[in-house]
Amino acid sequence: MENYHYPGTDIQTSRLALGCMRMAGKSVAEAQAVIEAALAVGINYFDHADIYGRGQSEERFAQAFKQIDCDRDQIYLQSKVGIRPKEGMFDFSKDHILKSVDGILRRLETDYLDALLLHRPDSLMEPEEVAEAFQTLKDSGKVRYFGVSNQSVGQMKLLQAATEIPLVFNQLQFGPAHTLMLDAGFNFNMPNDFGSNRTADILEYCRLHQITIQPWSPFQVDLEQGLFMKHPDYQELTKEIQEKADQYQVSFEGMVMAWILRHPAKMQPIVGTMTPERIRHNAEGLNVDLSRQDWYEIYRAGGRPLP
Ligand SMILES: NC(=O)c1ccc[n+]([C@@H]2O[C@H](COP(=O)([O-])OP(=O)(O)OC[C@H]3O[C@@H](n4cnc5c(N)ncnc54)[C@H](OP(=O)(O)O)[C@@H]3O)[C@@H](O)[C@H]2O)c1
Repeated sequence: MENYHYPGTDIQTSRLALGCMRMAGKSVAEAQAVIEAALAVGINYFDHADIYGRGQSEERFAQAFKQIDCDRDQIYLQSKVGIRPKEGMFDFSKDHILKSVDGILRRLETDYLDALLLHRPDSLMEPEEVAEAFQTLKDSGKVRYFGVSNQSVGQMKLLQAATEIPLVFNQLQFGPAHTLMLDAGFNFNMPNDFGSNRTADILEYCRLHQITIQPWSPFQVDLEQGLFMKHPDYQELTKEIQEKADQYQVSFEGMVMAWILRHPAKMQPIVGTMTPERIRHNAEGLNVDLSRQDWYEIYRAGGRPLP
Protein backbone atom coordinates (compact mmCIF):
# COMPACT_ATOMS: atom_id res chain seq x y z
CA MET A 1 0.00 0.00 0.00
CA GLU A 2 1.24 3.48 -0.91
CA ASN A 3 2.06 6.01 1.79
CA TYR A 4 -0.97 8.05 2.76
CA HIS A 5 -1.22 11.84 3.06
CA TYR A 6 -2.90 12.60 6.39
CA PRO A 7 -5.51 15.35 5.90
CA GLY A 8 -4.71 18.76 7.37
CA THR A 9 -0.98 17.96 7.63
CA ASP A 10 2.07 17.52 5.44
CA ILE A 11 2.53 14.06 6.95
CA GLN A 12 2.85 11.37 4.34
CA THR A 13 3.47 7.96 5.78
CA SER A 14 2.23 4.42 6.31
CA ARG A 15 -1.38 3.74 7.33
CA LEU A 16 0.04 2.01 10.45
CA ALA A 17 1.74 3.60 13.44
CA LEU A 18 3.69 1.92 16.22
CA GLY A 19 2.54 2.56 19.79
CA CYS A 20 5.34 2.72 22.36
CA MET A 21 3.27 2.28 25.54
CA ARG A 22 4.91 -1.09 26.21
CA MET A 23 8.50 -0.01 25.50
CA ALA A 24 9.35 1.00 29.07
CA GLY A 25 10.26 -2.50 30.26
CA LYS A 26 12.47 -3.28 27.26
CA SER A 27 16.25 -3.07 27.05
CA VAL A 28 17.81 -0.59 24.63
CA ALA A 29 18.72 -3.48 22.32
CA GLU A 30 15.15 -4.81 22.40
CA ALA A 31 13.72 -1.36 21.73
CA GLN A 32 16.18 -0.94 18.88
CA ALA A 33 15.03 -4.21 17.31
CA VAL A 34 11.41 -3.07 17.58
CA ILE A 35 12.06 0.31 15.94
CA GLU A 36 14.16 -1.30 13.21
CA ALA A 37 11.43 -3.84 12.49
CA ALA A 38 8.89 -1.01 12.17
CA LEU A 39 11.10 1.05 9.88
CA ALA A 40 11.82 -2.01 7.72
CA VAL A 41 8.10 -2.36 6.90
CA GLY A 42 7.63 1.37 6.33
CA ILE A 43 6.20 2.28 9.75
CA ASN A 44 7.92 5.52 10.74
CA TYR A 45 5.15 7.10 12.85
CA PHE A 46 5.59 6.48 16.59
CA ASP A 47 2.97 7.16 19.26
CA HIS A 48 3.96 8.03 22.83
CA ALA A 49 2.46 9.58 25.96
CA ASP A 50 4.22 11.26 28.84
CA ILE A 51 2.70 8.71 31.24
CA TYR A 52 3.87 5.52 29.48
CA GLY A 53 6.21 3.91 31.99
CA ARG A 54 6.21 7.33 33.73
CA GLY A 55 8.34 8.72 30.94
CA GLN A 56 10.52 5.64 30.56
CA SER A 57 9.00 4.63 27.23
CA GLU A 58 10.00 7.94 25.68
CA GLU A 59 13.49 7.70 27.18
CA ARG A 60 14.00 4.15 26.00
CA PHE A 61 12.82 5.06 22.52
CA ALA A 62 15.35 7.92 22.31
CA GLN A 63 18.19 5.74 23.59
CA ALA A 64 17.38 3.06 21.03
CA PHE A 65 16.75 5.44 18.12
CA LYS A 66 20.26 6.90 18.58
CA GLN A 67 21.72 3.48 17.73
CA ILE A 68 19.92 3.41 14.39
CA ASP A 69 21.15 4.95 11.17
CA CYS A 70 18.06 7.10 10.62
CA ASP A 71 17.61 10.87 10.94
CA ARG A 72 14.98 12.54 13.07
CA ASP A 73 13.33 14.05 9.98
CA GLN A 74 12.77 10.58 8.54
CA ILE A 75 10.36 9.68 11.35
CA TYR A 76 7.23 11.20 12.91
CA LEU A 77 6.93 11.51 16.69
CA GLN A 78 3.62 11.97 18.45
CA SER A 79 2.99 12.17 22.18
CA LYS A 80 0.10 12.84 24.52
CA VAL A 81 -0.39 14.96 27.64
CA GLY A 82 -3.08 15.77 30.17
CA ILE A 83 -3.19 12.77 32.54
CA ARG A 84 -1.70 13.19 36.02
CA PRO A 85 -1.83 9.66 37.49
CA LYS A 86 -0.14 10.54 40.79
CA GLU A 87 -2.70 13.25 41.52
CA GLY A 88 -5.60 11.18 40.15
CA MET A 89 -6.75 13.90 37.76
CA PHE A 90 -6.70 15.23 34.24
CA ASP A 91 -5.12 18.60 33.53
CA PHE A 92 -5.50 20.67 30.37
CA SER A 93 -4.22 23.88 31.97
CA LYS A 94 -1.82 25.89 29.83
CA ASP A 95 0.91 25.58 32.40
CA HIS A 96 0.63 21.79 32.58
CA ILE A 97 0.51 21.35 28.81
CA LEU A 98 3.58 23.53 28.24
CA LYS A 99 5.59 21.92 31.05
CA SER A 100 4.63 18.43 29.89
CA VAL A 101 5.75 19.11 26.34
CA ASP A 102 9.14 20.31 27.57
CA GLY A 103 9.49 17.05 29.51
CA ILE A 104 8.53 15.01 26.45
CA LEU A 105 11.03 16.81 24.21
CA ARG A 106 13.76 16.28 26.80
CA ARG A 107 13.01 12.56 27.17
CA LEU A 108 12.64 11.97 23.43
CA GLU A 109 15.82 14.01 22.83
CA THR A 110 14.23 16.04 20.07
CA ASP A 111 13.43 19.70 19.36
CA TYR A 112 9.91 19.12 18.11
CA LEU A 113 6.91 16.81 18.06
CA ASP A 114 5.08 16.14 14.84
CA ALA A 115 1.84 15.82 16.76
CA LEU A 116 0.58 16.44 20.27
CA LEU A 117 -2.69 14.95 21.52
CA LEU A 118 -4.69 15.66 24.67
CA HIS A 119 -4.85 12.23 26.25
CA ARG A 120 -8.23 12.07 28.08
CA PRO A 121 -10.93 14.74 28.36
CA ASP A 122 -10.54 17.16 31.26
CA SER A 123 -13.95 18.40 32.36
CA LEU A 124 -12.31 21.48 33.87
CA MET A 125 -10.84 22.42 30.49
CA GLU A 126 -10.94 26.10 29.53
CA PRO A 127 -10.84 25.92 25.72
CA GLU A 128 -9.20 29.37 25.40
CA GLU A 129 -6.39 28.27 27.69
CA VAL A 130 -5.73 25.16 25.63
CA ALA A 131 -5.87 27.30 22.48
CA GLU A 132 -3.19 29.59 23.94
CA ALA A 133 -1.01 26.62 24.84
CA PHE A 134 -1.35 25.19 21.31
CA GLN A 135 -0.52 28.56 19.74
CA THR A 136 2.54 28.97 21.95
CA LEU A 137 3.76 25.49 21.06
CA LYS A 138 3.13 26.03 17.36
CA ASP A 139 4.80 29.46 17.28
CA SER A 140 7.87 28.15 19.10
CA GLY A 141 8.17 25.25 16.66
CA LYS A 142 7.88 22.70 19.46
CA VAL A 143 4.74 21.06 18.01
CA ARG A 144 3.63 20.90 14.37
CA TYR A 145 0.10 19.41 14.57
CA PHE A 146 -2.51 18.89 17.27
CA GLY A 147 -5.25 16.48 18.13
CA VAL A 148 -7.16 14.79 20.91
CA SER A 149 -7.70 11.32 22.26
CA ASN A 150 -10.84 9.67 23.66
CA GLN A 151 -12.90 12.79 22.93
CA SER A 152 -16.54 13.10 21.93
CA VAL A 153 -18.01 15.23 19.16
CA GLY A 154 -19.10 17.89 21.66
CA GLN A 155 -15.70 18.02 23.34
CA MET A 156 -13.95 18.39 20.00
CA LYS A 157 -16.35 21.12 18.88
CA LEU A 158 -15.89 23.03 22.13
CA LEU A 159 -12.13 23.06 21.76
CA GLN A 160 -12.12 23.66 18.00
CA ALA A 161 -14.37 26.70 18.46
CA ALA A 162 -11.62 28.34 20.52
CA THR A 163 -8.75 27.90 18.09
CA GLU A 164 -8.01 28.23 14.40
CA ILE A 165 -5.42 25.48 14.70
CA PRO A 166 -7.16 22.42 13.29
CA LEU A 167 -7.54 19.30 15.38
CA VAL A 168 -6.37 16.60 12.97
CA PHE A 169 -6.35 13.41 15.07
CA ASN A 170 -8.61 11.67 17.56
CA GLN A 171 -7.21 8.50 19.14
CA LEU A 172 -10.04 6.10 20.04
CA GLN A 173 -10.16 2.41 20.84
CA PHE A 174 -11.31 0.39 17.85
CA GLY A 175 -10.77 -3.15 16.60
CA PRO A 176 -12.78 -6.25 15.64
CA ALA A 177 -13.70 -6.84 19.31
CA HIS A 178 -14.29 -3.17 20.13
CA THR A 179 -16.77 -1.85 17.61
CA LEU A 180 -18.94 0.60 19.54
CA MET A 181 -18.41 3.25 16.86
CA LEU A 182 -20.01 0.93 14.29
CA ASP A 183 -22.67 -0.78 16.42
CA ALA A 184 -24.57 2.43 17.13
CA GLY A 185 -24.70 3.28 13.42
CA PHE A 186 -26.02 -0.15 12.41
CA ASN A 187 -28.66 -0.08 15.15
CA PHE A 188 -29.84 3.50 14.94
CA ASN A 189 -33.36 3.91 16.34
CA MET A 190 -33.52 0.24 17.36
CA PRO A 191 -34.64 -0.79 20.86
CA ASN A 192 -31.59 -2.98 21.54
CA ASP A 193 -28.37 -2.43 23.49
CA PHE A 194 -26.24 -2.13 20.36
CA GLY A 195 -28.20 1.00 19.42
CA SER A 196 -27.17 2.77 22.60
CA ASN A 197 -25.02 5.50 21.10
CA ARG A 198 -22.02 5.57 23.42
CA THR A 199 -19.80 7.10 20.78
CA ALA A 200 -22.28 9.79 19.65
CA ASP A 201 -21.48 9.79 15.93
CA ILE A 202 -17.78 10.50 16.48
CA LEU A 203 -16.92 8.31 13.47
CA GLU A 204 -19.12 10.37 11.16
CA TYR A 205 -17.93 13.65 12.69
CA CYS A 206 -14.28 12.74 12.11
CA ARG A 207 -15.01 11.70 8.53
CA LEU A 208 -16.89 14.93 7.83
CA HIS A 209 -14.07 17.06 9.18
CA GLN A 210 -11.19 14.96 7.82
CA ILE A 211 -9.94 14.11 11.29
CA THR A 212 -7.92 10.93 11.29
CA ILE A 213 -9.04 8.37 13.84
CA GLN A 214 -6.12 6.48 15.35
CA PRO A 215 -7.50 3.18 16.71
CA TRP A 216 -5.66 2.22 19.89
CA SER A 217 -5.34 -1.30 21.33
CA PRO A 218 -6.73 -2.99 18.21
CA PHE A 219 -6.26 -6.47 19.73
CA GLN A 220 -7.70 -5.75 23.17
CA VAL A 221 -11.35 -6.15 24.19
CA ASP A 222 -11.05 -3.03 26.34
CA LEU A 223 -8.74 -1.61 29.00
CA GLU A 224 -9.39 -4.49 31.43
CA GLN A 225 -10.23 -7.69 29.56
CA GLY A 226 -7.04 -8.25 27.59
CA LEU A 227 -6.51 -9.78 24.15
CA PHE A 228 -9.71 -10.83 22.38
CA MET A 229 -7.93 -13.92 21.03
CA LYS A 230 -7.65 -15.22 24.61
CA HIS A 231 -11.12 -14.13 25.69
CA PRO A 232 -13.87 -16.79 25.87
CA ASP A 233 -16.47 -14.43 24.35
CA TYR A 234 -14.43 -13.92 21.18
CA GLN A 235 -13.49 -17.44 20.12
CA GLU A 236 -15.85 -17.31 17.14
CA LEU A 237 -14.33 -14.00 16.06
CA THR A 238 -10.81 -15.39 16.43
CA LYS A 239 -11.71 -18.44 14.34
CA GLU A 240 -13.32 -16.32 11.63
CA ILE A 241 -10.30 -13.98 11.40
CA GLN A 242 -7.94 -16.97 11.19
CA GLU A 243 -10.02 -18.49 8.37
CA LYS A 244 -9.98 -15.23 6.45
CA ALA A 245 -6.24 -14.86 7.09
CA ASP A 246 -5.68 -18.32 5.57
CA GLN A 247 -7.92 -17.48 2.63
CA TYR A 248 -6.02 -14.24 1.87
CA GLN A 249 -2.68 -15.88 2.77
CA VAL A 250 -1.69 -13.39 5.44
CA SER A 251 -1.05 -13.64 9.16
CA PHE A 252 -3.79 -13.36 11.78
CA GLU A 253 -2.51 -9.91 12.81
CA GLY A 254 -2.42 -8.83 9.17
CA MET A 255 -6.10 -9.73 8.79
CA VAL A 256 -7.00 -7.67 11.88
CA MET A 257 -5.23 -4.69 10.34
CA ALA A 258 -6.86 -5.32 6.94
CA TRP A 259 -10.28 -5.27 8.62
CA ILE A 260 -9.59 -1.88 10.24
CA LEU A 261 -8.00 -0.42 7.10
CA ARG A 262 -10.97 -1.53 4.95
CA HIS A 263 -13.19 1.07 6.60
CA PRO A 264 -13.49 4.19 4.41
CA ALA A 265 -12.75 6.49 7.38
CA LYS A 266 -9.06 5.86 6.53
CA MET A 267 -7.99 5.24 10.09
CA GLN A 268 -4.38 4.91 11.27
CA PRO A 269 -4.22 1.92 13.66
CA ILE A 270 -1.69 2.14 16.49
CA VAL A 271 -0.08 -1.26 16.77
CA GLY A 272 1.26 -2.04 20.22
CA THR A 273 3.31 -5.23 19.88
CA MET A 274 6.94 -5.17 20.98
CA THR A 275 7.76 -8.33 19.03
CA PRO A 276 9.57 -7.62 15.74
CA GLU A 277 7.97 -10.60 14.00
CA ARG A 278 4.47 -9.45 15.00
CA ILE A 279 5.21 -5.97 13.65
CA ARG A 280 5.96 -7.61 10.29
CA HIS A 281 2.78 -9.66 10.58
CA ASN A 282 0.66 -6.56 11.26
CA ALA A 283 2.15 -4.87 8.21
CA GLU A 284 0.97 -7.73 5.98
CA GLY A 285 -2.50 -6.24 6.33
CA LEU A 286 -1.45 -3.19 4.32
CA ASN A 287 -1.67 -5.14 1.09
CA VAL A 288 -4.95 -6.97 1.62
CA ASP A 289 -7.95 -5.92 -0.42
CA LEU A 290 -10.68 -7.23 1.88
CA SER A 291 -14.06 -7.78 0.25
CA ARG A 292 -17.23 -6.17 1.60
CA GLN A 293 -18.67 -9.64 2.32
CA ASP A 294 -15.59 -10.70 4.30
CA TRP A 295 -15.52 -7.43 6.25
CA TYR A 296 -19.14 -8.00 7.30
CA GLU A 297 -18.51 -11.64 8.19
CA ILE A 298 -15.74 -10.60 10.59
CA TYR A 299 -17.94 -7.89 12.09
CA ARG A 300 -20.79 -10.33 12.71
CA ALA A 301 -18.47 -12.99 14.14
CA GLY A 302 -17.85 -10.63 17.05
CA GLY A 303 -21.36 -11.47 18.27
CA ARG A 304 -23.10 -8.45 16.79
CA PRO A 305 -26.02 -9.41 14.58
CA LEU A 306 -27.16 -6.91 11.98
CA PRO A 307 -30.72 -5.65 12.47
N1 LIG B 1 -5.14 7.03 23.75
C1 LIG B 1 -5.30 6.09 24.66
O1 LIG B 1 -6.07 6.24 25.63
C2 LIG B 1 -4.53 4.80 24.51
C3 LIG B 1 -4.81 3.71 25.36
C4 LIG B 1 -4.08 2.54 25.18
C5 LIG B 1 -3.09 2.47 24.19
N2 LIG B 1 -2.83 3.55 23.40
C6 LIG B 1 -1.82 3.50 22.31
O2 LIG B 1 -2.11 2.39 21.50
C7 LIG B 1 -0.96 1.58 21.38
C8 LIG B 1 -1.36 0.16 21.17
O3 LIG B 1 -2.02 -0.36 22.36
P1 LIG B 1 -1.82 -1.85 22.76
O4 LIG B 1 -0.39 -2.13 23.06
O5 LIG B 1 -2.82 -2.20 23.80
O6 LIG B 1 -2.18 -2.53 21.34
P2 LIG B 1 -2.39 -4.00 20.82
O7 LIG B 1 -1.66 -4.09 19.53
O8 LIG B 1 -3.86 -4.27 20.82
O9 LIG B 1 -1.76 -4.96 21.91
C9 LIG B 1 -0.38 -5.20 22.02
C10 LIG B 1 -0.20 -6.25 23.08
O10 LIG B 1 -0.83 -7.47 22.63
C11 LIG B 1 0.14 -8.49 22.50
N3 LIG B 1 -0.13 -9.21 21.25
C12 LIG B 1 -0.38 -8.66 20.04
N4 LIG B 1 -0.62 -9.63 19.12
C13 LIG B 1 -0.52 -10.80 19.79
C14 LIG B 1 -0.69 -12.16 19.42
N5 LIG B 1 -0.98 -12.50 18.15
N6 LIG B 1 -0.54 -13.10 20.36
C15 LIG B 1 -0.25 -12.78 21.64
N7 LIG B 1 -0.08 -11.50 22.06
C16 LIG B 1 -0.22 -10.54 21.15
C17 LIG B 1 1.47 -7.79 22.46
O11 LIG B 1 2.46 -8.68 22.97
P3 LIG B 1 4.00 -8.59 22.51
O12 LIG B 1 4.45 -7.20 22.77
O13 LIG B 1 4.64 -9.60 23.38
O14 LIG B 1 4.03 -8.93 21.05
C18 LIG B 1 1.23 -6.60 23.35
O15 LIG B 1 1.35 -6.97 24.72
C19 LIG B 1 -0.15 1.85 22.64
O16 LIG B 1 1.21 1.54 22.48
C20 LIG B 1 -0.39 3.31 22.81
O17 LIG B 1 0.50 4.01 21.97
C21 LIG B 1 -3.56 4.70 23.54
